[in-house]
Amino acid sequence: MKPTQANADSMTADSRDLAESADAVSLLSAWGETLNGHFRRILGRYPSAPSRLMEAVEYSLLAGGKRLRPALVLESWVCCAGGDRDKPSLAVLAAAAALELIHTFSLVHDDLPAMDDDDLRRGRPTNHKVFGEATAILAGDAMVTMAFETIAQDAPANLIGPLVRELAHATGPAGMIGGQIIDMDSAHPPSELGALQTLHRMKTGALLTASCRLGAIAAGASEISLASLDRFGRHCGLAFQIVDDLLDQTSTPQQLGKATKKDAAKGKVTYPMLIGMEASVAEAERSLTTALESLNSFGPEADGLRALAKFVVERKK
Ligand code: IPE
Ligand code: IPE
Ligand code: MG
Ligand code: MG
Ligand code: MG
Repeated sequence: MKPTQANADSMTADSRDLAESADAVSLLSAWGETLNGHFRRILGRYPSAPSRLMEAVEYSLLAGGKRLRPALVLESWVCCAGGDRDKPSLAVLAAAAALELIHTFSLVHDDLPAMDDDDLRRGRPTNHKVFGEATAILAGDAMVTMAFETIAQDAPANLIGPLVRELAHATGPAGMIGGQIIDMDSAHPPSELGALQTLHRMKTGALLTASCRLGAIAAGASEISLASLDRFGRHCGLAFQIVDDLLDQTSTPQQLGKATKKDAAKGKVTYPMLIGMEASVAEAERSLTTALESLNSFGPEADGLRALAKFVVERKK
């Protein structure tokens, strides 16, 4: 398929409002609407798939969630392509949807009894609580394949290889999945900050960095721009998991839509546990400063990314 622009009818009024606002909450909600429309189209591509499997996929995929990663993909594209927010290309929409499919798969599996054994996610009972473990495992598997299929189907031929390679690398053994297995190794928890940083960069940072890189790749960005967005994504990614660790201690299930105070109960080593709350907040802020510095070569086209980075550190859920 050629690199066409998405149909105007796929855009919501909200997405048109994006042009006037770089406020993170508006960006997340408007891009979230655009993404949900795209997910409905993707879900409609499997008419012969078993309905229970598709129900389980839809249950977790359309359950809400902040949609931070797809917003980063789309804003990285805006930043690098000078792209019109009313007309995201099919390639960037596919990349944004693929990232959120992989992220949602990682949450469904992260919550399984064999992993973090959680009952609440995105304000609802976890997938395995509703559909059973076997279906939750298979729904996660299905989301992985759907992620790569949407890129293969919707991106132009010259972008399929680079987008797939990027997403697969960030998801796989040297990225999120590698980080998750380190996180599961309760016999050898990270004992110093360097090791914890490596874990955070892998289990969470890899997909956040990939979000920025995919948007840049979909925009045909230069190597220099790609390197700036890579640096931005790495620092946002670390800040994101530090804040996740902090919120686990300070927030409530009502606020977060997932259980809290569970890291200590499960013997997980976290930033606040290792260096204390105050130092963790300072680390998150230091990462934010470096992330913002990475965007110094860009002008107002990066304002959406700047707003999202601040949201990562200031967020309350
Ligand atoms: C939660 O991610 C899992 C982590 C990587 C810490 P989010 O906090 O982005 O979850 P949703 O997508 O908003 O539900
Ligand atoms: C999960 O980290 C990272 C993933 C790859 C899903 P956590 O286990 O801390 O995420 P939450 O707190 O359950 O969302
Ligand atoms: Mg976990
Ligand atoms: Mg967890
Ligand atoms: Mg957590």
